Amino acid sequence: MGLFDIEGTKSVIKNEEVLNYDYIPKILPYRENQIQEIANSIKPMLNERSGSNLFIHGAPGIGKTASIKWVLRELSETTDDVIPIYVNCWNLKTKYFIFSEMANQLKISFRAGKSAEHILRQVVYKLRGKRAVFVFDEIDKIDDPDFLYQIVSTFPKSCIHLISNKFDYVVRIDARIKSRLMLRNMEFKPYSLNEVYGILKERAKLALKKDTIETQLLKQIANITFNKKDVRVGLYLLRESAKIAEQENKRKITKEHVKKAIENVLDKKPEEEKLNKDENLILDIVKVHNGEVAGPLYEIYKKRGGELSYKSFKRYVNNLEKLGLLKLELTGGGFKGKSTRIFLA
Ligand SMILES: Nc1ncnc2c1ncn2[C@@H]1O[C@H](COP(=O)(O)OP(=O)(O)OP(=O)(O)O)[C@@H](O)[C@H]1O
Ligand SMILES: [Mg+2]
Repeated sequence: MGLFDIEGTKSVIKNEEVLNYDYIPKILPYRENQIQEIANSIKPMLNERSGSNLFIHGAPGIGKTASIKWVLRELSETTDDVIPIYVNCWNLKTKYFIFSEMANQLKISFRAGKSAEHILRQVVYKLRGKRAVFVFDEIDKIDDPDFLYQIVSTFPKSCIHLISNKFDYVVRIDARIKSRLMLRNMEFKPYSLNEVYGILKERAKLALKKDTIETQLLKQIANITFNKKDVRVGLYLLRESAKIAEQENKRKITKEHVKKAIENVLDKKPEEEKLNKDENLILDIVKVHNGEVAGPLYEIYKKRGGELSYKSFKRYVNNLEKLGLLKLELTGGGFKGKSTRIFLA
């Protein structure tokens, strides 16, 4: 067989998208109660009454984001009067970036250099006569939660949900914001082994061709996922094992394929599991060009399809440093002054 022959490459996977971390299945098993509770917090808003604000917390990889997105999707299919605005604060640490993201979602265009307040006024204008559900996921990544006070005062008829895996996040925020938000606490508990198995079985059924994985192997993957306490591990193992099987032109996933996939995942740091497309790309480039300075690295990033501006690229690099995945070193500077060398941590 030739090196690039594609025969057999689709022998196991039916729909790879189903195994993406941000794929939201039609049914989210074992989170029916949480989904109902989130929906109940929003429901009164459909009858011109007030909703309630939630603080959703729980360990990583147990369906917090998936549940809220599931509800927001349902909401947008039900009404145009209550607008869902979901913001992941992972890379948007300041209110300027948060408000810009809100504006983007509402398809508001604004010129660069406008202030955060200006952007917020545009959002207010766009939402006039409507209510909104604001979700701020990974809220603990924000530099200053003061913007929440601004949101709650500007949109008194809307509701705000905060999500974090730090259960004590709210304890640490300003009493003034807290009393204004009146957050109801909502804890997501980890899944049991049976539940993890049920979730992975469903996803495998949607993603893989019939009879490509034995129950025993799926159980092994569920066991590892349960021990790692993060459903993403299971999704990763399913995808990797399937890909390895396809690379070997097999029609079934074997014990060896799963074993190889496990070896790969164990090499990854847990922080890397949550990175987005650009962060992964940056990390991949640094793995090959370790110690290169920021400018040339950015050029490589662009060549490989990256679309971030140089400013955002540097923000992502700084974020990866904070996560302990990259190390930055300020060089003495040449003609153009100081620059930064980027290393794998
Ligand atoms: N009950 C479920 N059914 C199907 N898939 C699920 C379920 N719970 C979680 N998942 C999947 O597991 C992955 C991780 O879930 P999610 O992103 O919601 O985690 P999280 O609790 O928000 O974690 P983090 O705190 O790290 O952001 C997602 O791909 C999600 O689709
Ligand atoms: Mg999440």
